[in-house]
Amino acid sequence: MWLFVLSGLLALAGNPVSSSCPIEMNPSRAAVRYKGPFSANCSSFSNQTAGMGWESSNGGVGNTANVVFLPLNIKSVTDWKLRPVCFINFQDEDQCSGTLPVIVYKTPDSVSTPHLRQQGPMVEGEVYRMQCDIVNVAPARNLSVLWYRGNDLLFTETFDESVGTPLNKSSVFSLTAHRDYDGGQIRCEAKLNFWRAGPNIPSMPSSGSYHTTVLYPPTFTNPENETLELTAGSKLTLNCTAAGNPVPVYSWHLPHSIQQADKDQITNDPVLTPSFALTGAYKCTVSSTQGTKTKYFNVIQAKRDHTTLAALIGVFTALGVLLLIGGLFFVTPEGTFSCSKGSYIRGQPTSGPV
Ligand SMILES: *[C@@H]1O[C@H](CO)[C@@H](O)[C@H](O)[C@H]1NC(C)=O
Ligand SMILES: *[C@@H]1O[C@H](CO)[C@@H](O)[C@H](O)[C@H]1NC(C)=O
Ligand SMILES: *[C@@H]1O[C@H](CO)[C@@H](O)[C@H](O)[C@H]1NC(C)=O
Ligand SMILES: *[C@@H]1O[C@H](CO)[C@@H](O)[C@H](O)[C@H]1NC(C)=O
Repeated sequence: MWLFVLSGLLALAGNPVSSSCPIEMNPSRAAVRYKGPFSANCSSFSNQTAGMGWESSNGGVGNTANVVFLPLNIKSVTDWKLRPVCFINFQDEDQCSGTLPVIVYKTPDSVSTPHLRQQGPMVEGEVYRMQCDIVNVAPARNLSVLWYRGNDLLFTETFDESVGTPLNKSSVFSLTAHRDYDGGQIRCEAKLNFWRAGPNIPSMPSSGSYHTTVLYPPTFTNPENETLELTAGSKLTLNCTAAGNPVPVYSWHLPHSIQQADKDQITNDPVLTPSFALTGAYKCTVSSTQGTKTKYFNVIQAKRDHTTLAALIGVFTALGVLLLIGGLFFVTPEGTFSCSKGSYIRGQPTSGPV
């Protein structure tokens, strides 16, 4: 009794095909290309085997006496529901069998994104319908469609489909255009997923890549208005650089008419270094078909110059006053220091109370 249970468990572990029939099939399951060849080998573990056979819709092997293994060879698989069955006839005329799971597949005739091909430039923020057409693929339940932008996976779609014969399938998803997609490559890939990875994975036709263009408004590298200090001897640099598609056009408004010569030279320059560095409000405007943005530069006289000068003047003034006071009170006309400021006469006793 226990031995029976144990052998049953062993059969289960060793043979995923059939837990009760003492056979092993190699391979134990398979993905087979439609109209491609297929072969498998069925082996019996029973020493009571009288004969073996294969039943299959694409040509089986009749009961063959006195063998412990039996190969099945199919030149061309044409049944989408192929399920080869291996059977053993025992000496006591009992019989048992196991079914070999097979997926019959067909790679698509084409994988394409015709809508994308017709797609003009996208506009940032707008939503676009992406469609990938997969023609004549089987089985669709094992199909997955992967959308990529460069190496980044954007979207994956699988199909809940019971039909095992070739179908046309489309993967559709909505893409919100983003400036990061500008200049990138979008493509879709079809994959058939079977049990085993490796050399069995069928190679699929490619959709090709679609080069994306995304239009977006001018955007400053540093969007904040800037306050700049003008220091003597150093050059004033105003950086108004902005990204955008199409590439934005720059125009500057300078605070002083004397700088007009500069203005004429720096048309469409993102960085301004005026030859007359003057204080005032500088304005830079960037524009393209996608919008216009303005940035202000407030150029002021450097504060440090004023404070240093004021401090210096202050120090000198204080020093001068101190010297003056010192001269008046602490130095006698004779040039010696004195600590008394009373009516003191040298060598004579002082008058009045002591
Ligand atoms: C089938 O399997 C048996 C062992 O189970 C092995 O001896 C034999 O060579 C195999 N035949 C083929 C055609 O692979
Ligand atoms: C592919 O199909 C088989 C059966 O046909 C199923 O067992 C398996 O889960 C499927 N794989 C995927 C990834 O859907
Ligand atoms: C799949 O699409 C192709 C080409 O568009 C067409 O010729 C074929 O009839 C379609 N097949 C099915 C099953 O709809
Ligand atoms: C820049 O200054 C202008 C005018 O003073 C103001 O309208 C605008 O909001 C400021 N922009 C930023 C980003 O602070």
